[in-house]
Amino acid sequence: MTPIRLAPSILSADFARLGDEVRAIEAAGADLVHFDVMDNHYVPNLTIGPLVCEAIRPHVKIGIDVHLMVEPVDALIPLFAKAGANIITFHPEASRHVDRTLQLIRDHGCKAGLVFNPATPLEWLDHVMDRLDVVLLMSVNPGFGGQKFIPSTLAKLSDARRRIDAHTAQGGQPIWLEVDGGVKLDNIAQIVQAGADTLVAGSAVFGAPDNDGGYHTVMKQLRKNARSE
Ligand code: DX5
Ligand code: ZN
Repeated sequence: MTPIRLAPSILSADFARLGDEVRAIEAAGADLVHFDVMDNHYVPNLTIGPLVCEAIRPHVKIGIDVHLMVEPVDALIPLFAKAGANIITFHPEASRHVDRTLQLIRDHGCKAGLVFNPATPLEWLDHVMDRLDVVLLMSVNPGFGGQKFIPSTLAKLSDARRRIDAHTAQGGQPIWLEVDGGVKLDNIAQIVQAGADTLVAGSAVFGAPDNDGGYHTVMKQLRKNARSE
């Protein structure tokens, strides 16, 4: 069985203590730090940029998974690469030239990915599979943490899994299948069964108290539940 990757989203962390928070999730076994960038234009919320990425970079060794919910996209890519991002994903509707943006991310030494909103069709994958390292399916509409998982994501995940497996079976590079939004202890098994290998969890992780090894407990439980069906 391929091990899953857990990517806690710092959107639900205590921003006044961000260094401590990212160290705590790394110590609790996180595989990635999920970093949500919102611009109050592509999505109705405003969060953090390259300066904050640069500030947390020295606090952890694990990869920083930058999820760009911004429009336009390209100008931010060199800034995030310089700030220590390891993965950069963006929404195809937010870039005029999707192929060029994907290439730009890789040219800056990062893994590249496309993000699909609940109503965005997977056909955007058709001509760019060889440019991708990650496919990220949103299981909520982007903009806020703490929303409820949209069940139709499960069928879409199976579809994405089929496309990825067909690509790799024909000799294509490996592509991670990531899910973002409403991932909890009680639905992670179904999500993994549908084909996800990388799970973002914001409120499920940071909602747990960090005393008494709270993050450690919830992360361990997420991994256990992921394999429980
Ligand atoms: C939503 C963000 C998510 C969010 C997930 O636009 O992209 O990463 O933090 O939060 P939860 O896990 O609470 O749904
Ligand atoms: Zn996200």
